[in-house]
Amino acid sequence: MLPTVEWKGDSVVMIDQRKLPTTEVYVTCKTANDVAKAIKTMVIRGAPAIGVAAAMGIALGMQRSKASGTKQFATEFQKTCDLMAGTRPTAVNLFWAIDKMKRVFAEAAQGGGSVDEIKQRLVAEAQRIHDEDVANCRTMGAHGASLVPDTARILTHCNAGALATAGYGTALGVIRAAAGQGKKIAVLADETRPFLQGARLTAWELVKDGIPTTVITDNMAASMMRLGEVDLVVVGADRIAANGDVANKVGTYGVAVLAKEHGIPFYVAAPISTIDLDTTDGSGIPIEERPDREVTHVGTSRLTPEGASIRNPAFDVTPAKYVTAIVTERGIARAPYDVSLAALVTGAAT
Ligand code: MRU
Repeated sequence: MLPTVEWKGDSVVMIDQRKLPTTEVYVTCKTANDVAKAIKTMVIRGAPAIGVAAAMGIALGMQRSKASGTKQFATEFQKTCDLMAGTRPTAVNLFWAIDKMKRVFAEAAQGGGSVDEIKQRLVAEAQRIHDEDVANCRTMGAHGASLVPDTARILTHCNAGALATAGYGTALGVIRAAAGQGKKIAVLADETRPFLQGARLTAWELVKDGIPTTVITDNMAASMMRLGEVDLVVVGADRIAANGDVANKVGTYGVAVLAKEHGIPFYVAAPISTIDLDTTDGSGIPIEERPDREVTHVGTSRLTPEGASIRNPAFDVTPAKYVTAIVTERGIARAPYDVSLAALVTGAAT
């Protein structure tokens, strides 16, 4: 399976997602600053992958620290966590991973660990977060595959695949698992303007896996549904509020409304680390505004006239009423989501 992000001992290496599908090149991050820049500039993207990269970036930054005492080391650790937290605001997996690293740091420091011991604990935790993410995706895929009929035309938006996670994917994990069970799957991949995650990344992954994939422009989804060419939708998520409102790549909301209008199930696949019980509903989710250039240009070609104002909100919120079910590694949640999500997160039976 394709390595999205890897710990190499003295560096963090990631495939450059800005260059796919035409060029497969890897970026080597030698410092925490390099990792933060890679997250910000979309070398690596996708909520779970961002969390894994941030954890590795923190471990890398602390490994390179020259601090001899734990006090100085703790100050540097906090600064490095703040650096990662400032990269992208919407995906809660980023803050979840930083919290995990903080907990490990606190435990090790309170236990009287030396700077070297704390460094080792941080590296081990970052690698654990990575490995656990792949395992969660596989379990989530198996749960989600139970929702997929034996023959299905599945529409997905953005890229919630191996590239958006430590491997295997969330929405694409469901598709991979269903295909792996011998189900006859065909995927419609929304191109996903402006960054084209669907056209470039989802199609690249699925073609490599031999899963039949058709790329459509975002504005084609409505008529595909009306023509009866979509059996279900599955997407990923960047943050799911306690009431089941889902923040995901901009355009997801429109797809969800269309799915409801056409009586098509709309599924969200996301790990427990994407569920944010501290945020009551979607109105509390921060939506990242990205640079104008992503809208004004494709590659080096300018599309828009100078002088036109630009908006580039990278995510939107789909209200819970449009979501048929949420697939996690701990099982499938259905409405009422305030009850079912809380039960999954706390590990209680529904
Ligand atoms: O801006 P991006 O590419 O990081 O946005 C990614 C998405 O919106 C994905 O659908 C989401 O993170 C889920 S990834 C498993």
